[in-house]
Amino acid sequence: MASQDQISLFELFSPSSEPSPPEGFNPDLIPTDAKVPIPAGTYQTMEQMRVHCNQCFRCALGENRTNAVIGRGNVKAPIMIVGEGPGQNEDETGLPFVGKAGQLLDKILASVKLTENDVYICNVVKCRPPGNRDPQPAEIEACKGYLLEQIRLVNPKIILLTGKYAMLTLLGIKQGITKVRGQWVERDGRLYMPIFHPAYLLRNQSREKGSPKWLMWQDIQEVRKKLDEMEWDG
Ligand code: URA
Repeated sequence: MASQDQISLFELFSPSSEPSPPEGFNPDLIPTDAKVPIPAGTYQTMEQMRVHCNQCFRCALGENRTNAVIGRGNVKAPIMIVGEGPGQNEDETGLPFVGKAGQLLDKILASVKLTENDVYICNVVKCRPPGNRDPQPAEIEACKGYLLEQIRLVNPKIILLTGKYAMLTLLGIKQGITKVRGQWVERDGRLYMPIFHPAYLLRNQSREKGSPKWLMWQDIQEVRKKLDEMEWDG
């Protein structure tokens, strides 16, 4: 029953429970019905979420997963980067953005001296869509509670949304990414910026003025500038 499921989740991850694996962990208590929400405050740590997501069948993506992909980087970082969903490399390693797109993302960050200490990287859906297809609305909805918990736990000042699914899920923006990339959107005390997905940049190699790579370079410099201003403000 829905209400019982929710109470069980709170009991499962009470502040006194051990991070990994939580004592008394019982996968039967996970709300398999995606209509049962994951309440804010369910998790005290990402490790609890990782254990939980690896037992999750709120949507069918769980059936083919090797590893649920939760996040990498600093869980207290000022910047969160949200991608779409794991690919094959990510499914195998359990870490987001470790394939070619991820290597490019790391280079983009390094170009403005941002390291893994400055960012926390995660995805809209935690399990790999088969054949790297787009995540479906019901899968995004089933997984959204985990992403919102990640935002609550990391509490970033800046959230970079790579591509249309991250933008749609967290801001409800349906416009094309080319129209809105590079623009700051303030919501609930955080600054969001839609940016191109690194996989898109891999398909568009030109560095000419106005090209996707050139635009990304403008955007990441703007992010660096904003972070510096914020840190200056204390
Ligand atoms: N693309 C994504 O959106 N996320 C990953 O983790 C890897 C590739």
